[in-house]
Amino acid sequence: MVVVATTYPDTFGIGQGSALAGLALTYSVQISGILQAMIRFFIQTETYFTSAERVREYAEISKLEKPAIVDGNRPLENWPNNGNIRFENVSMRYREDLPLVLREVDIIIKAKEKIGIVGRTGSGKSSLGIALFRLMELSEGRICIDGFDTSEIGLEDLRKKMTIIPQDPVLFVGSIRYNLDPFQQHSDEEIWKAVERSHIKELINRLPQKLENEVVENGENFSVGERQLLCMARAILRHSKIIVLDEATAAIDSETDSLVQDTIREAFADCTVLTIAHRLNTILNCNKIIVMQDGQVAEFGETQELMKNGQSKFSHLLAAGLKSGEEIVAAKSTNIHNKNNSNNTTACYINPSYTSTS
Ligand SMILES: Nc1ncnc2c1ncn2[C@@H]1O[C@H](COP(=O)(O)OP(=O)(O)OP(=O)(O)O)[C@@H](O)[C@H]1O
Ligand SMILES: [Mg+2]
Repeated sequence: MVVVATTYPDTFGIGQGSALAGLALTYSVQISGILQAMIRFFIQTETYFTSAERVREYAEISKLEKPAIVDGNRPLENWPNNGNIRFENVSMRYREDLPLVLREVDIIIKAKEKIGIVGRTGSGKSSLGIALFRLMELSEGRICIDGFDTSEIGLEDLRKKMTIIPQDPVLFVGSIRYNLDPFQQHSDEEIWKAVERSHIKELINRLPQKLENEVVENGENFSVGERQLLCMARAILRHSKIIVLDEATAAIDSETDSLVQDTIREAFADCTVLTIAHRLNTILNCNKIIVMQDGQVAEFGETQELMKNGQSKFSHLLAAGLKSGEEIVAAKSTNIHNKNNSNNTTACYINPSYTSTS
């Protein structure tokens, strides 16, 4: 409008001279800047409101979670002193409108037992860990640890007593030391011992600031395998009575994996360990095996018994692994298919997609 008025001053009755035309031109130049600023402020305001919206949403989500501490029902400081776990008729779903992903799971895990968990992708292996840590509340049944119903205690009291190395290893922004010992409860010596036992000492020694070296968001300055080893070091440091390893070494090369498996056996000898397996040879040394199928426990028994029984789902699994040639590599482990020659051993590495339980 201003541009048109100054271009045709007579039409708009502003022929008083060039002063008015100049003034109008000046305004016309400013207007485009003002419009840009307006749009910028508008977008910024919208962005700030998105943050407020998120804060509100998270505040509402946290209300869904049960209390961190239940006064009057707190376990003893040394709980769980044995590490017995009882799943009593446990069923769980991720949302009200979704089907059950765990169905009537009823098992007893004794103190210090090493349990291997196998099954097809989506069969509910990780969901067992999720139920144990109460990341989702159960639809039915209960889980007792050393006789204590876990649904009755606070989430903080429950979770700080157990350790999980999840399928996606989690690291936080901060130093390596902060990631290994966030509550500063351990000495330098203990931390170095843990990183040595998890076979990551060499890597940390090569870093310019060693334990003080920075970890960026999601630990992206480390490879997935290195992140898993750091999580392993964290688990060794915490030394909880109950440990869940969810494909904790799936991204680690087989040689390091075999060393880490030795460490796990040694470091967690007095703990109850639930190992969800990606490579079957990592669980052949477990006391018992759980085969999961469609959210149910399809088989639960002594490893040796299941291996001996040609009809068991677990022995079918092993056989399927041996058939899929490219997935099988020589490994230092007990050989069930070659009972007469325990020195010349092979064990199978099986991709979960091969884990047919039929
Ligand atoms: N966050 C979620 N929301 C809804 N459904 C989920 C969620 N996580 C898993 N599920 C569903 O629960 C079932 C069991 O999943 P789970 O992660 O326990 O399987 P898994 O045996 O650990 O598989 P994988 O070997 O691939 O890790 C699957 O059908 C899956 O689709
Ligand atoms: Mg899983």
